[in-house]
Amino acid sequence: LHSNFVKIVEVGARDGLQNEKTIVPTKTKLALIEKLSQTGLLVIEAGAFVSPKWVPHMADTPQILQYLDKHPAGGAQSEGITYPYLVPNLQGLERALGLGTTNLKEVAIFASASEGFSQKNINCSIDKSLERFRPVLELCHDRGIRVRGYISMIFSCPYDGPTPPTRVAEVTKKLLDMGCYEVSLGDTNGMGTPPLTSILLTTLLSKPYAIPVSKLACHFHDTYNSALVNAMTALYLGVRTFDSSVAGLGGCPYSKGATGNVSTEDLIYFLHGMGMETGVDLEGVSRIGEWISKELGRSNGSKVGPALLTR
Ligand code: HMG
Ligand code: MG
Repeated sequence: LHSNFVKIVEVGARDGLQNEKTIVPTKTKLALIEKLSQTGLLVIEAGAFVSPKWVPHMADTPQILQYLDKHPAGGAQSEGITYPYLVPNLQGLERALGLGTTNLKEVAIFASASEGFSQKNINCSIDKSLERFRPVLELCHDRGIRVRGYISMIFSCPYDGPTPPTRVAEVTKKLLDMGCYEVSLGDTNGMGTPPLTSILLTTLLSKPYAIPVSKLACHFHDTYNSALVNAMTALYLGVRTFDSSVAGLGGCPYSKGATGNVSTEDLIYFLHGMGMETGVDLEGVSRIGEWISKELGRSNGSKVGPALLTR
């Protein structure tokens, strides 16, 4: 029997802001993280120690980590909140550790299920990326830092076409065997459908892979309005961790047209409607979605947020 608690991983401050037209001021990012920390969210991605030449939007991640070390966001509530940071290689992890903070509890490494996207996003093959992650995992293990794994392009890739589910299963298994505590399956270009979601998850959960469903998270994009039907499929198959982004902020700079992570507001409304618990204050997140959309001068990517606030 699966529990009715669903963990939401809020990726707005990282995945959401890495692709904005203009670079979002550090102050705004910190305000966003601070506000999100007051809503009951347990995991809030806060930045990425990637190359600032590749992704200038994340150049201020060191300042964010340092600030949150001195001024825990959310005050007393922040005790139970994890703020993960992406690291693409050992250099990224060493940059983070070099800051000497005590609040680096979790990092995320990110692989691809397609060779084309791996090259575009992190400039190396899938195998090479896994090789690079090994020392990251070892050092994290020594320092007591948890490591989450991401896999992009789980259904198809703009460069390579459809992704075989067995390929996703192999990369997932490798990331888990290397020591990731959880793997987030990313539908980076939003091409998923319920049958594809079902086939993929069934492949992962069945022999020979037999991956425990508790080790899996789903990261759906709403590009084609399918994120929630895919989430429903994953929910029925036992997935209890989902990634989302307040106001549906986001997109990946190396996946053209990959707009919008599913919005946290829409995901929570859907989950609560399904009888699930998230522990997150939907109205609070909706207000943040309106606020950040105005700050960034973009339209709110959530349907639920604006509807809820005007009823
Ligand atoms: P590279 O150019 O192959 O790296 O980039 P390199 O090792 O050859 O080094 C080149 C230069 O980069 C050197 O500097 C290094 O010092 C520097 P130079 O000598 O030229 O001055 N460098 C670094 N600087 C800072 N931090 C580092 C770092 N590493 C090297 N960690 C690299 C390879 C992986 C660094 C680059 O491709 C990169 O940073 N890529 C990140 C791309 C990215 O952030 N993409 C978005 C996140 S993934 C995503 O959004 C999908 C996801 O959300 C799931 C989904 O939505 O589906 C996770
Ligand atoms: Mg995403």
